[in-house]
Amino acid sequence: MDDEERTYTNGEITVIWQPKECNHSRICFEKATGLPEVFDPKARPWINMNGATTAKIIAQVNKCPTNALSYFFNSEDDRDDTMKETDREPVKETIVQVMRNGPLIIYGNIKIKDADGIETRKTTGTAFCRCGSSKTNPYCDGTHYEVGFKE
Ligand code: FES
Repeated sequence: MDDEERTYTNGEITVIWQPKECNHSRICFEKATGLPEVFDPKARPWINMNGATTAKIIAQVNKCPTNALSYFFNSEDDRDDTMKETDREPVKETIVQVMRNGPLIIYGNIKIKDADGIETRKTTGTAFCRCGSSKTNPYCDGTHYEVGFKE
């Protein structure tokens, strides 16, 4: 699969998937955390925009820890002000989640300082590498799949 951005629409919203940003956290399709009726990596296309309501799809897209998934309303008329745009509100409580055989995801409003003191702010979810193989340390880049990380 190439790294080209893909779009999927149900006529109301368009979901954008950026493969380069995806760290394969599995959050979008695992039964406990995801919406498998819409997100199924074994299906083609892997996003079925008819699998759930727009509100459910938006709620799931907003859980993406790396912003590989985002969306926009096709028309201002479709917009429901109770729904949040991809510019998400910061999570109020910081949550640290260990993904099986994958990254450590921190949900919340955090500031990351690199070794040179350069700061980056994250306000939604950030995936940190646990396998030690990421080429974008400290962030997960999905390499844990290639190296068969188990833990
Ligand atoms: S945990 Fe994902 S690249 Fe290391």
